[in-house]
Amino acid sequence: MALARITVLISGRGSNMAALIDACIAGRIEGAVAQVISNRPDAAGLDIARSHGIATTLVDHRTFASRDLFDTALADAIDQGEPDLIVLAGFMRILGADFVRRYEGRMLNIHPSLLPAYPGTDTHRRALADGATRHGCTVHFVTPDVDCGPIVAQAEVRVQPGDDPATLAARVLEQEHRLLPEVVGWFCAGLNRVRDDFPRPDVASRENVPRKVVSDPT
Ligand code: GRF
Repeated sequence: MALARITVLISGRGSNMAALIDACIAGRIEGAVAQVISNRPDAAGLDIARSHGIATTLVDHRTFASRDLFDTALADAIDQGEPDLIVLAGFMRILGADFVRRYEGRMLNIHPSLLPAYPGTDTHRRALADGATRHGCTVHFVTPDVDCGPIVAQAEVRVQPGDDPATLAARVLEQEHRLLPEVVGWFCAGLNRVRDDFPRPDVASRENVPRKVVSDPT
């Protein structure tokens, strides 16, 4: 059975990335984390990835003069890993529209809120400040508008009396570690089924795959 190649983008701790690696090793995902890329040299997740023998790449955003140059370097690094799926797991950089379109339909993000509620940062504090009774996390496809792409799945937690942002974040994180591997598992299983019938094109030639064009009837 072909294993889907997964590239994970991180900026810090990397606990969601670790949950993905564990699920791949346990055979719960028909895929392998083949590459981990960080935009920060001090991301703790890099060491976790290395300890599993996974190739790591640093694309330090501070060394690029513009967002476009960073996006180009990031795309180059990603393409070297020839991924079937790219997962943003705590990746804290906003990506340009051209970059996002390049990976449309094969880039997922995990976000710590029940989108469309609380896009952006500081979600747990904002949910508590609003008196929300439910909170959670969302896995969605990445589109150019931040945290607005099509939702694949969500996991909910109940806000408990006495919760503070840290306790709420910890309970949501437990759900993230469950939800993200599950969704990635669906994606990889579906991809592999399709691939059995339609052999995988070379990554290099993907850009030349014809796209269906629907003309405007007006
Ligand atoms: C997670 O809560 C994720 O949803 C958010 O950033 C956090 C990253 O945590 N985008 P980790 O690096 O996966 O531990």
